[in-house]
Amino acid sequence: MPAVIPPATLGEALRRGAARLAQAGVGPARLEAEVLLAATYGWTRAGLLVRLAEPITPAGYLRYIEMVEKRAGGYPLQYLTGHQEFMSLDFLVTPAVLIPRADTEVLVEAVLELAGREQGPWSVVDVGTGSGAIAISLAHYLPEGSRVWAVDLSDEALELARTNANRNGVDVTFVHGDLLEPFLLTKKKQEISPRVANPLFDVVVSNPPYIPTGELAGLAPELAFEPCAALDGGEDGVEVYRRLVPQACRALRSGGYLAVEVGWNQGPPVVELISSAGCFEKACIRQDYAGRDRVVIARKI
Ligand SMILES: C[S@@+](CC[C@H](N)C(=O)[O-])C[C@H]1O[C@@H](n2cnc3c(N)ncnc32)[C@H](O)[C@@H]1O
Repeated sequence: MPAVIPPATLGEALRRGAARLAQAGVGPARLEAEVLLAATYGWTRAGLLVRLAEPITPAGYLRYIEMVEKRAGGYPLQYLTGHQEFMSLDFLVTPAVLIPRADTEVLVEAVLELAGREQGPWSVVDVGTGSGAIAISLAHYLPEGSRVWAVDLSDEALELARTNANRNGVDVTFVHGDLLEPFLLTKKKQEISPRVANPLFDVVVSNPPYIPTGELAGLAPELAFEPCAALDGGEDGVEVYRRLVPQACRALRSGGYLAVEVGWNQGPPVVELISSAGCFEKACIRQDYAGRDRVVIARKI
């Protein structure tokens, strides 16, 4: 980076940052520059906008311009600010977790709608919880008395998800493990204590990795900064569903629901996988607000 000569005011710094982002084709440039400058000082955007005529400190400018340069190189805005809003709640995000997407709110809303139809508290498990966005939103919005578990293979993700649950004041039980394995009793365990039953959930919800391995390299540059384990869905993109569906069959009570997010072209193959498991009623597909297939829901027989 060339020697940095700080401008006189915050407003001028904002103009320079926005021009740099626009030049790099990153945008909306002015808005993102505002977000980064506000984050530099821990202010809200409104807090920044009333101070534009004030002088900027050299150290503050350096921090800001470093973030602008990273952003110009495609690094995600949310990893720079450390925050993402989801279901009107605030989540801390780091490169150890996928940045929660607005599309995934369709999945959470679908589960809340199911819960709204049936009375009483629910027990839900979120498989592949990442930042905890789904589990924590459900714990926040489900009826009182509901219990939420969340599982992930990544210890770093689980640590962040625990912090997010505390910051949002909800109780979620986080478990390290492979899909629903931690909740399923193996034959051996059952032989040792035959009277112990599997815990049975009302809902298994998941936004698993679902991008076909061969497509990872061609994705939007920003996705290259997100954890591969959160994206890679194996050769055909549906490998995780292939293992999850039969496990969900064992982990759900009769009448319970499996609700999963899918890629725009994965609705029919995931419905087919669910149908061939033989323990669910006919699955249905829901679209996101852009009209693409986004969620598959099936009720256990
Ligand atoms: C697409 S991300 C979803 C994160 C979060 N639920 C969301 O919607 O923003 C998938 C998550 O699944 C986790 N994961 C991948 N394979 C897993 C497995 N076999 N068992 C448990 N978690 C897994 C990844 O670590 C990642 O956090």
